[in-house]
Amino acid sequence: MRPSSLGYIRVSAKEIDGWRSFATSLLGLQVVDRSRNTVAFRMDNYAQRILVESDGGSTINAYGWEMNSAADLDAMAAQIERAGHRVERGTRALAEERMVKDLIYTIDPAGNRVEFYHGPAMAADAFSPSRNISGFRTQGIGLGHAVLHTPSVREAIPYYRDVLGFGVSDHFEQPFPACFFHVNTSHHSFALIQGEKDQVHHLMLELFSMDDVGQAYDIALGEKGRVAVTLGRHTGNDVISFYNWSPSGFMVEYGWGAKQIDPATWTPGDRPAGPSYWGHDRSWVSDELREKARQMTLQNARNGMRSPVQVLPGNHHVMEGACPWWDAHRGN
Ligand SMILES: [Fe+2]
Repeated sequence: MRPSSLGYIRVSAKEIDGWRSFATSLLGLQVVDRSRNTVAFRMDNYAQRILVESDGGSTINAYGWEMNSAADLDAMAAQIERAGHRVERGTRALAEERMVKDLIYTIDPAGNRVEFYHGPAMAADAFSPSRNISGFRTQGIGLGHAVLHTPSVREAIPYYRDVLGFGVSDHFEQPFPACFFHVNTSHHSFALIQGEKDQVHHLMLELFSMDDVGQAYDIALGEKGRVAVTLGRHTGNDVISFYNWSPSGFMVEYGWGAKQIDPATWTPGDRPAGPSYWGHDRSWVSDELREKARQMTLQNARNGMRSPVQVLPGNHHVMEGACPWWDAHRGN
């Protein structure tokens, strides 16, 4: 048993005004006012996806994983308990705050609060972005992906793979150890990156249009210190993205063109090329690791690493003629 998607997150913030501004002027999320200390954001037909509370903190303090039914939620609770981990049932008040029918929660070995729910509330009206974007790709894949820092990726894998049932997509050791997990057709909905302490690394949101990402990059470049990782393209999920510093100190990746996989036939593997085909200069790593990552992308370029773009129907035109690199790649 595994969840069907990452459905929501709850963010702990020092104050909500910074989040309101970041989420609307850059990300394009829709604001849903909840209370003086709480603001929620929509990105699709769900009544809320991101809940931000000004409680003095600075992190993501709950990850909400969606189950397809009440029966699946019970089965997930039983699976976690069988593995020797404590599961609590959420109160009615908590379910109302999360805007779901019912939920359970457990704590992972690093202390992160992992919630599972079923029956998310849908909004009565259509999603209305706060700036002119085409919208967020969430159908069948959820709100995006979450990535956690952990002192030892190797030691953290068994909990997510064996207790929560996440499927391993792939992993790499250089420039820093990382392991990626899927729960649906998205290459990863969750990942672990080796770092000194347990904390959230980033949240990723996927746009329908590459231009949405490029235009957000223009906005982010206009704010000193906003861009955390420059524009680049990931190996693994093939996404073109950049990363922003959020007001809560973790990064929000903003991307387009993530690869779809078939979980039934997927075989986990090593990714020796590292995280990126090109770009993604990382301000969050040490100078030494930054240079190591840069040398890896330069080597990928020398190796001629390329991959077709991943597009939705209607989001592309196929041109006439031949593509020399693709034909060579296919062996034609
Ligand atoms: Fe990511």
